[in-house]
Amino acid sequence: MSLLREQNVLLGITAGIAAYKSAWLVRLLVKQGANVQVVLTPSAKEFVTPLTLSTLSKNPVLSHFTDEKDENAVWNNHVDLGLWADFIIIAPATANTMSKMTNGICDNLLLAVYLSAKCPVYFAPAMDLDMYKHDSTRHNLIELQKRGNVMIPAEHGELASGLVGEGRMAEPESIVAFIEAHIKEGLPLKGKKVLVTAGPTYEAIDPVRFIGNHSSGKMGFEIAKAASKMGAEVVLISGPSNESIEGYSIEKISVVSAEEMYNAVHGHFDQCHVAVLSAAVADYRPEKTESEKIKKTDSSLGLKLVKTEDILKSIGDLKRHQYLVGFALETSNEIENAKSKLERKNLDLIVLNSLKDTGAGFGGSTNKVTFISASGAIKVGELKSKREVASDLMDLILKNINA
Ligand code: CTP
Repeated sequence: MSLLREQNVLLGITAGIAAYKSAWLVRLLVKQGANVQVVLTPSAKEFVTPLTLSTLSKNPVLSHFTDEKDENAVWNNHVDLGLWADFIIIAPATANTMSKMTNGICDNLLLAVYLSAKCPVYFAPAMDLDMYKHDSTRHNLIELQKRGNVMIPAEHGELASGLVGEGRMAEPESIVAFIEAHIKEGLPLKGKKVLVTAGPTYEAIDPVRFIGNHSSGKMGFEIAKAASKMGAEVVLISGPSNESIEGYSIEKISVVSAEEMYNAVHGHFDQCHVAVLSAAVADYRPEKTESEKIKKTDSSLGLKLVKTEDILKSIGDLKRHQYLVGFALETSNEIENAKSKLERKNLDLIVLNSLKDTGAGFGGSTNKVTFISASGAIKVGELKSKREVASDLMDLILKNINA
């Protein structure tokens, strides 16, 4: 998955000839799944048209505090724009705009957004080589970086003046790669390996029948995606499920039975930092799997079931440095039962689902959970989408492993 997917990107374009490349940058960002809002400085319109940029970004392009042609115009709120953005890119960043950014000058919408925004700001300088070398430009580049803005360095090459030197705006592909690498570097779970189990297990009775359950796997898949978005290396071990991880860099291991899941988990547990076992593993399996389809003969059929290995408990017993999370589905004495499960299985955190809560549990796209930590801290959640619950869970894990 591109790290830019679903990111709100405010692209500021200033008045330099390199603005023609910014149209392609918009296209690349949109292709990565980003939501792009372009803000042009008024003079940048001389270099690239709002029509091109609004068509490519699929959003109206903003340039002024209000739309001067519309007498009922609403104010383009720079504060809201700054809050909306996950990050800002200013490309090209001209010497003029960089100087204004350094000095707090605020004479257009883009500069007002810049001054009020709290999100990361990337800027890609572009100008002729002597302007780029000028003392005042050097000073501004340093000042802007000292204040936390991230420079995407200009490249060496032929410039619009015909001269050859440093000052050419980084190519749009390089800008996207630079930002992705920078985001990745700062992700909180970078360098950590997270193991997740998901879905049901099927325990074969004969070649065509099995014992299973209604778990869709959605909760576990969302947890795997949330961990991946936080930069973790994720191994997802899943029983049969229709859920997809397309677009994400997640290693998926498909299993069918509890025994296969047990083996896969034990193959990866040692190297992982965090394990979240959300699979609805069958507690019992047929003692014997018939090799031929069972024919109906008698009026009743007895099936002897034996316990499956408790995967979560087995790794709880082996746990050393790992942070271990389990799930509990309870119908009565929920908190007490979940707490005792947490202790019995040597967990750091347990996620309690109560079947009494409407919208919680198997199948649907929502869940309502309570997080209980080994320290005894209890956090009762609201009814949320499984994606939000997964993100809350990963935030809590992150907080606890860094505590
Ligand atoms: N689990 C497991 N292996 C099993 C059974 C369960 O890893 N064979 C894990 C699940 O992935 C989940 C947790 O254990 O994280 C659920 O514990 P379990 O004791 O099965 O809970 P319930 O199904 O709620 O059990 P009980 O019937 O004992 O209440």
